[in-house]
Amino acid sequence: MKIISFEGIEGVGKSTQIRLLKDFLESKNLNVEVLREPGSTLAGEKIRDILLDNDNKLSNETELLLMFSARSELVNKIILDSKSDYLLLDRFFDASMAYQGYGRELSKEFISSLISFIKCPIPDFTFLLDISVEQGFSRKHNDNMDRIESSGFDFFDKVRRGYLEIASNNNDRFFVINANNDIDSIHDEILSNLNII
Ligand code: TMP
Repeated sequence: MKIISFEGIEGVGKSTQIRLLKDFLESKNLNVEVLREPGSTLAGEKIRDILLDNDNKLSNETELLLMFSARSELVNKIILDSKSDYLLLDRFFDASMAYQGYGRELSKEFISSLISFIKCPIPDFTFLLDISVEQGFSRKHNDNMDRIESSGFDFFDKVRRGYLEIASNNNDRFFVINANNDIDSIHDEILSNLNII
């Protein structure tokens, strides 16, 4: 089984690329499962609702621990038992390092220890779709902003810089892709990085 994760700030087009890659892999008769974080389990989707609800004024520590509670369910109930050829993850633990570590400025060492504690497998490939905060949010202007999306420009700037630093520290599995490019050329770039064209 290969695990491929997709990361980036809001509005970078992760879902579109995941859908295109899923269609491509299925056209080759491969078995593909798409999972999103936080979510994709019964408990994980309920935790997601708590995390994104604007009425909840959560502390940063609560936010981090809820992310890992949802992730622990996903890892232990789905990922570690999966028989799929490919797991496509719409965000994974790198998101906690970027959002809660760099963005909320919580301890990166503690986040690393949580990653080990819940036995997260390391993705084989991680695609970071990169775009400026202004461009990311301008693509989302019709949506209602959830609790995390309402965190402001400075927060998302720290998250974006964090992602780029995480990518450069893990360049064995990370590919940084310019999310300004058109949808088809991003898809082709992903396929060529995966070496499966
Ligand atoms: P989504 O809207 O891309 O599905 O993600 C939900 C939100 O949760 C998004 O704003 C990113 C945020 N998030 C974190 O802050 N930390 C995490 O570990 C994950 C997985 C998501």
